[in-house]
Amino acid sequence: MAVSFAKLVPLFQIMLYLTLLLSLNNGTARITSRFIRTEWPSADIPLHNKVFDIPKGHNAPQQVRITQGDYDGKAVIISWVTPNELGSNRVQYGKLEKKYDSSAEGTVTNYTFYKYKSGYIHHCLVDDLEIGDGDSSREFWFQTPPKIHPDAPYTFGIIGDLGQTYNSLSTLKHYMQSGGQSVLFLGDLSYADRYEYNDVGIRWDSWGRFIEQSAAYQPWIWSAGNHEIEFMPNMGEVIPFKSYLHRIATPYTASKSTNPLCSNVVHYMEGESMRAVFESWFVHSRVDFIFAGHVHAYERSYRISNIHYNFTSGDRYPVPDKSAPVYLTVGDGGNQEGLAGRFLDPQPNYSAFREASYGHSTLEIKNRTHAFYHWNRNDDGNKVTTDSVVFHNQYWSNNLRRRKLKKNHLKPRVEVR
Ligand SMILES: [Fe+2]
Repeated sequence: MAVSFAKLVPLFQIMLYLTLLLSLNNGTARITSRFIRTEWPSADIPLHNKVFDIPKGHNAPQQVRITQGDYDGKAVIISWVTPNELGSNRVQYGKLEKKYDSSAEGTVTNYTFYKYKSGYIHHCLVDDLEIGDGDSSREFWFQTPPKIHPDAPYTFGIIGDLGQTYNSLSTLKHYMQSGGQSVLFLGDLSYADRYEYNDVGIRWDSWGRFIEQSAAYQPWIWSAGNHEIEFMPNMGEVIPFKSYLHRIATPYTASKSTNPLCSNVVHYMEGESMRAVFESWFVHSRVDFIFAGHVHAYERSYRISNIHYNFTSGDRYPVPDKSAPVYLTVGDGGNQEGLAGRFLDPQPNYSAFREASYGHSTLEIKNRTHAFYHWNRNDDGNKVTTDSVVFHNQYWSNNLRRRKLKKNHLKPRVEVR
């Protein structure tokens, strides 16, 4: 079993080039779901709960997680924390279970935050793994992604604004039932910044142990949110993203999660400057999805653009545009700040479906032309698929269409509307 997680990269490209062809609950109907249910109070799970259990054994590795390690399919990064002492910085790995004939040496870092002293945070670039140090070793496994190919199937989970409440736990459990192979995380991880002094670091550690049940067995791919900034001058902490940068190993650009087009009252239009800069790129490159968190609710837009808007055009409102992406807000992981339940009323034309509930999404790429997308609400402890769409890859379908026209000596029809 050769490990080659960077094979994910072309899949990202596929993901970005998917285009909406039809929608299962489509047409022009706009849906504002009135379903609002907070299953549990938006309070963090107490630290003594078993979801935060410290693994047995002196200095046993904890908070184990993996992410992809390079662009060309030959590496993953294994991260873990040894709480008491440096311990081994070595990852042993092999192709067969219990037969680890290779090893790799990682880097180690630690930091202080107020008077909290982190454990030893290890990051190690490897092909396959067993993490261990004598009696304290623990074993993990993961499946390699399919070979790079436009028709390679792959399922991403999409989670944002997770935190560590009972709602967060429900989201995580539901995601683990979904068959997702890798998580695209949309920023705002632990919400440790809701705490003060040493509890900030303590809640980063508990969150690392909380997500290990998934993140140690498949890659989670990260972007940072505003809750990772942790600018806390009252505690003498003024280096932005200090905990995040020590703890999260990702070779890719982290950017602040924001919402370019979304009709929730919370954070409304905050992403406008970002939209003004990036939107025309998205449209001209035929980007198909923009996922964002930050707003604690769910929303899916139609394929719309506002690229004609400038100070003099007067075209202030987004219009339907087949080359434009669908904007998806999935900031409903379940953190302690609770839901953002107020939307613009009436529902704007660009908004296809919106609901203020906790949940997560899955994006199942089937082949070069089709992907199934689902938003799954947490509903009384059950996972309920509430918004489902079939997406069609515009890049490939346009190429296929052009080839078909050429083969039949036909000219493309031009429609002017
Ligand atoms: Fe958030």
